Amino acid sequence: MTAKEYKEIVDKALAEQFLSEEDYPIRGLAEAMRYSLLAGGKRVRPMLVLEFCRVSGGEPKAALPVACAIEMLHTYSLIHDDLPCMDNDELRRGMPTNHVVYGECTATLAGDALQAEAFGTILRSELPAERRVRCAMHLANAVGLDGMCGGQYLDMLAEGKQLDAKGLDEINSRKTGALLTAACLMGVAAAGGSSAQEEAAARYGAALGAAFQIRDDMLDVLSTEAELGKPIGSDREEQKNTYMALYGEERCAQLVERLTAAAKKVLEGQFAECAFLDALADSMAVRRN
Ligand code: IPE
Ligand code: IPE
Ligand code: MG
Ligand code: MG
Ligand code: MG
Repeated sequence: MTAKEYKEIVDKALAEQFLSEEDYPIRGLAEAMRYSLLAGGKRVRPMLVLEFCRVSGGEPKAALPVACAIEMLHTYSLIHDDLPCMDNDELRRGMPTNHVVYGECTATLAGDALQAEAFGTILRSELPAERRVRCAMHLANAVGLDGMCGGQYLDMLAEGKQLDAKGLDEINSRKTGALLTAACLMGVAAAGGSSAQEEAAARYGAALGAAFQIRDDMLDVLSTEAELGKPIGSDREEQKNTYMALYGEERCAQLVERLTAAAKKVLEGQFAECAFLDALADSMAVRRN
């Protein structure tokens, strides 16, 4: 499948989530969840799930609930990341952020519910039980204390302080790298792939994730609001530690290139076909949003 086709099946499956009757008492919360989930987004993590499933010998369609689950989890992280108590941003995926539309309380709950629904979606899928468990475990490892939440905590703690490269890598491997790595691992797990395949997937995800956050930091400075769909200069405003502040544009571009090449190299020999994953890494390195 092409990236466009993957995105289409993911968008369609997500659009079927959290639909509710007119008189459903919790309809407002479901609406807030759908608002951010369907606002757009590149759907990189679901694509990684589906393609890693395919190259590990599985049927991508069987992994569709897992792909939707990781996008729910990611969307929760974005809703909370934008809250006034965190990055305090008012634009996301080209639309007003969740709390701007629904208020802080509902936005917080929408994120909370999306996280629980992500795990539920995996556990209720029709994959064999041991594959469901493995996918849920990878996701839990990636987003809890040692993963995304831990990274977000460190990111907040470091505001206004000057970190070195090691400190910044530590934050970003947790806040961004962990979830991208989990996407790759969950794809392999959904297919019942080997531990050698999981290992290669994790290494690809880690390199891709590192490049992804460097590019994200670059775009916060170099892009436009219209193109990026989120505010420009948010990092400086919040006194964040970023790769742009630490290294500057040229060095960042070099690092992205190096990490992308490293990601592609890891796949060699481990998977039958790498063309899609190679192209995905290349396109993320030069993405404009
Ligand atoms: C943004 O993620 C947050 C980071 C981890 C840097 P994406 O760049 O994947 O955002 P969407 O899903 O396309 O909106
Ligand atoms: C956020 O990093 C990573 C998450 C866990 C959501 P950023 O704060 O840089 O992401 P953007 O730039 O707001 O998308
Ligand atoms: Mg943030
Ligand atoms: Mg942010
Ligand atoms: Mg950013």
